[in-house]
This record gives sequence, C-alpha cells and structure tokens, in this order.
Amino acid sequence: MSYSLVPVPLGSFQVNELLFEDSVTFSLIVPTYNESKNLAKLVEVLSHLLDNSYDGNYELIIVDDDSPDLTWQVGLDLMPEYPHLRIMRRQGEKGLSTAVIRGWQAAQGEILGVIDGDLQHPPETLIKMLDAIAKGADLVVASRHVEGGGVSDWGFMRRILSRGAQMLGLLILPNVIGRVSDPMSGYFMVRRDAIANSPMNPLGYKILIEVLGRGNIATVAEVGYVFQERQEGESKVSGKQYIDYILHLLRLRSRGRITKLREKLHLPVKRFLSYGLVGLSGVFVDMSIFYLLGTVGWGLTSSKIISSEVAVMNNFLWNDLWTFRDISSQQIGWQKRIVRFLKFNLICLVGIGLNLIILNLLYNYLHINKYLANLIAIAIVTIWNFWFNLKLSWRVTQTK
Ligand code: GDD
Ligand code: MN
Repeated sequence: MSYSLVPVPLGSFQVNELLFEDSVTFSLIVPTYNESKNLAKLVEVLSHLLDNSYDGNYELIIVDDDSPDLTWQVGLDLMPEYPHLRIMRRQGEKGLSTAVIRGWQAAQGEILGVIDGDLQHPPETLIKMLDAIAKGADLVVASRHVEGGGVSDWGFMRRILSRGAQMLGLLILPNVIGRVSDPMSGYFMVRRDAIANSPMNPLGYKILIEVLGRGNIATVAEVGYVFQERQEGESKVSGKQYIDYILHLLRLRSRGRITKLREKLHLPVKRFLSYGLVGLSGVFVDMSIFYLLGTVGWGLTSSKIISSEVAVMNNFLWNDLWTFRDISSQQIGWQKRIVRFLKFNLICLVGIGLNLIILNLLYNYLHINKYLANLIAIAIVTIWNFWFNLKLSWRVTQTK
C-alpha cells in the first residue's frame, strides 16, 4: 500500500460548503515549517487524544511548506500508523496563514481547527474547545489572556511587543480585534458554516484576524491555555511578521480599497512603509542631534544642517540593507554602494534645502513651535525623498 499526499487546492482562498457524503466532524490543521523533530510526538499525542474522545470522527492534516528538513516526508512515514493523518506538501506557495486556509479547503470537517506543530499549544485544550463549539459557539479561541491562560517564560520585551501589537490592532481595527482577548492566537476552531463562501485574503501570521474580519461569526468563546516553551526546532517569527501584521490590519480595515487604489496608481506601499520606518529612526537621530546642538548654543540653521546629514547616513545604511535590498543585492560591490550613497546623499541634500525652506517658513512666518515645524518639514521631505530615491538611487538599468 502506498501513501500519497493531499493535492494542494488551487485558486482563491475560499472554503466551500461541505460535500455531505464523506464528511467528518472535526478537521484539525497543523501548519508546519521545519518541524520534523516535533511531528512524531505531536501526531501521537493528538491522535491519542482525538481517538479517545472523537472515536474516529476526525482528520489531522499537516500542511507543510516543502520544509528543507523534510517534515512532509516524516509525515508520510507516519501514515501507516495513523489512519486519520493526511499530509499536504506545498511547493511554491508559502506562509502560515495561507497554509491554514489551504488545509481547510482540503478538509472535510464541519468544525475546522488549527494548532501549531511545535507542541507550544497544549493538545488537551482541544477538548474544552470542542465542548464550546458543541454548546453553540461559532468560533472558539484558545487564549493566553483569560482565566487559566498565560505564557510560560516570556521576557519583558516579548510581552511588550505582543501587547503593543494588540493595542495597535485595537486602534486600527477595534471591531475585530476587540472581540477576543487574544487576537494573536494561532490556536482556535471555527464552524465551517461561519466561513464558507467568504473569500479570504490573508497576509503573514495572524489567520485568526482574517477569520474574525471576513467570517460570519455570531458567537465567540474563549478557553484559557498556557503557551508552552518550544522544545525542538525554532520559531519562524522575525521583524517581517510585524510589518505583515500591520499591513494585514490595514488591508482588512480598508476592505480592499487600499489594494484597489494601489493597483490603480502602482504605488509601492510596502516599500514606502519600510522607508517610513527607516525614516522614523532617522527622525530620532535628527531630533536628538538637533536638540543637543541647540543646548550647546548652535543656531537653528546650522544645527539643522548637521542633524540632517547624520540622519541621512543612518537612513542610507538601513535602506540599502532593508528597504531596497532586493534591488541593491543586484548591484554588488562597494563601488556601486558608494555610488548609491552619493546619489542618495545628493537627493537628500536637495531634501535638506527643501527642509530648511519649509522649516523657516513654518517657524519664522507661521510661528509654529520649532520642533513641530521640524517634524512637519521632515514628513514632507520624506515623501519627496522616497520618490526620487526609488526612481534614481536604487534604479537598476538592465544591461544584458
Ligand atoms: N506551512 C507553514 N508555512 N507553516 C509555518 C510557516 C510557514 O511559512 N511559518 C511557521 N509555520 C508553522 C510552524 O512550523 C509552527 O508549527 C507554527 O506555524 C507556529 O510558528 P512558530 O514560528 O512556532 O510561531 P510562534 O511560536 O512564534 O507563534 C505562535 O504564537 C503566537 C501567539 O503569540 C503561533 O501559534 C502563532 O500562531 C501565535 O499567534
Ligand atoms: Mn512556536
């Protein structure tokens, strides 16, 4: 007998209504990337748990993004032992949120769930969650922030980042983020009816936000759980996830308006956001030096010249390494980098001139507070600089 992979659903990210003939009660998706060391244990624990309480009426679907450590192969090797196990191997498409939706699209359950593949989500919580669905909830979220919930060993910084992300979400999308205590949770289940036929367009890590934002969810339940420490493998979270998260919130908030506008205007929104973040670091550099020079008695103009130039150097470095890295990686070598820096500097030099004019206008004629005036000047010049740098400094002339 040979064991085969589940075909990857194609096309848009939309879960369909159930085909009645071969349905099961519960489909649990496990998105994985390089979890080969965790898989056997996870499948064992989950199968044992669901065999006892669900008696065969479930399926476990691993959605692996073609992991270099061959997680999907480990899954295939486990199949003879576990009749409810199915494995999907995606090649080409990747990302946590879309993996979950592809899994649900291939699933046959009335209840659709997701759990991490690294055992950080305690499997026992599943039973309480299934209970909540049985009692009528459309969506049940395992939460770190209700009775019985928590994190095991998180540092101060990680807690701040997690809560900061939640606060930002509340500001941008209060009606969605405010519905649950732990919108960052990747451990939840939803009734198929509540999301069937709603087109999804997720970005990054936070699939729950997409389900809350686009699904048809009347009742939400929460169950506490303690987020365990990872024993094997490593987390895939990086700075990119934070940017994706913000973009995801904005996308949901605009309900497609931004995307449409961007498509119409061909605006490089993502790049501008990175550029803006780099610019923000430049504002701190600029402001600090501007302030320092002010306290040692320098005049408005001379302080501004020096503070701007130091900020320019700071910004070039980050933009070259990050914002435009896809372009700069095609222009290898120090000479080319120096050329880019000189162009960047030239554009920013003109920017500084513009900055000075605006600052003087705002301060001397409109009598706006000097620091506020500096901030407004920086904002205007940032847009100006971004545009010209995109078009000139990092422009690649294709030579074939
Ligand atoms: N298929 C696929 N593709 N799976 C992925 C990908 C990907 O690109 N990136 C990560 N995963 C899988 C991992 O293998 C793991 O099973 C799960 O998704 C979570 O990834 P981690 O990298 O371990 O995330 P985490 O532990 O930092 O974050 C967890 O906690 C958050 C709450 O703070 C996750 O549970 C999040 O979903 C949750 O929101
Ligand atoms: Mn994890």
